[in-house]
Amino acid sequence: MAKKIIKRSWAEPFKIKVVEPISMTTKEYREKTAKQAGYNTFLLKSQDIYIDLLTDSGTNAMSDYQWAGMMLGDEAYAGSKNFYYLWDNVKKYYGYPYFVPTHQGRAAEHLVSKILIKPGDYIPGNMYFTTTRLHQEIAGGTFVDVIIDEAHDPQSLHPFKGNVDISKLDKLVKEVGAKKIPYISVAGPVNMAGGQPISMANIVELKSYAKKNGIKMWLDATRLVENAYFIKQREKGYENKTIAQILKEICSHFEGIWVSAKKDLLVNIGGFIATKNKNVYEEARNLVVVYEGLHTYGGLAGRDMEAMARGIEEMVNYDYIRSRIGQVEYFGNKLLEYKIPIVQPIGGHAIFLDAKRFLPHLKQIEFPAQTLANEIYIDSGVRAMERGIVSAGRNQKTGDHNYPKLELVRLTLPRRVYTQAHIDVTYESIASVYDKRKSIKGLKMIYEPKYLRFFQARFEKLK
Ligand code: F0G
Repeated sequence: MAKKIIKRSWAEPFKIKVVEPISMTTKEYREKTAKQAGYNTFLLKSQDIYIDLLTDSGTNAMSDYQWAGMMLGDEAYAGSKNFYYLWDNVKKYYGYPYFVPTHQGRAAEHLVSKILIKPGDYIPGNMYFTTTRLHQEIAGGTFVDVIIDEAHDPQSLHPFKGNVDISKLDKLVKEVGAKKIPYISVAGPVNMAGGQPISMANIVELKSYAKKNGIKMWLDATRLVENAYFIKQREKGYENKTIAQILKEICSHFEGIWVSAKKDLLVNIGGFIATKNKNVYEEARNLVVVYEGLHTYGGLAGRDMEAMARGIEEMVNYDYIRSRIGQVEYFGNKLLEYKIPIVQPIGGHAIFLDAKRFLPHLKQIEFPAQTLANEIYIDSGVRAMERGIVSAGRNQKTGDHNYPKLELVRLTLPRRVYTQAHIDVTYESIASVYDKRKSIKGLKMIYEPKYLRFFQARFEKLK
């Protein structure tokens, strides 16, 4: 009797038209390059990488539709037609009337923080993100984490680990007063928690609390399409809504958003602010001219804005986002089968290895996640990123390291770039590092930059 075929539920809704060769290197060579890079994967040269899972930021493959749009770039200094098309699509898909382009996400964060925060303010948020918190601090604010406790536990299976704990928020409001809180800084999904989503129910509850206390809500909508997908999968009442409908519904609860377009929008560069608040818009339109470029290009070329506008149309396609997150799930499930400790539930943009459980013999000050990212690179040429004590930086007041509960290695999947075979090879490499984990020694930091130290810090191997 013929065997019954088990049908796979999905495949990528696109095929490959252009290919980019990648480097194959030896282990001896990588031992040298890792050392030269001060055991920091950010300092490796891209030509020395086999499979690059450092980030999903700006590493997307654009479609033929987007590339065709690049030829339609209107590079006028003022009033480019690509700007107006992009603005129309921001209105149509995110639902905000006002829009200011920036060259990338942190530029948008810079302007929003500068406009909304006064020195001495407090900004509660569902876990910090590196650049977001830094801009809030530079503007004179103090970030306060109000995410639910489950988010700090890599083994908790809570379906919405990005949720805000309103009692933590309320405690802060009672302590410092609502006047000192210019806005609640919400991210959906939460990058540092493992790409974990926030639920619509939590957003609605948060909004009613914020309204009662006269506090604004702003959203980091960088990967909001992924959050919308999880809401459709996991939240009652959203099964039959489209990704576009959910995206717009989330945004309707916030006064405004900032976005790094280098993620959801399927482009290599770009960012923006969108809001319903005319005053904030006017201020952002003024400031963008100082820091980025005219308000009709914000540091971008016309062709970049065209690619963004077209990317917005593609990002809400259900088959696309299902295959994107499906690839992350495929990867995570393989690791789980081998009993490799990862953050669960599997998130939207990346797999996060739990370095504390992977290398339990290392102390946090021996940089377990940094160490593990290096071991994987040396084993196979796969590049990952530390998301632990190095990324968490130092306490602004005491100058001591922040010791985050989560000590993670992020393997981030660029959109539409790698095949399932790349994922299999990566999985095999991590499994072989796992097999020899007991022999792995930690690192010592020998150079530390002042800001966002994880990008440029250097390390030495402990003997
Ligand atoms: N917000 C979130 C949630 C992000 O993940 C990023 C960037 C930014 C803002 C800043 O945007 O890079 O365009 O200036 N995340 C990248 C990453 C760097 O690898 O996670 P940007």
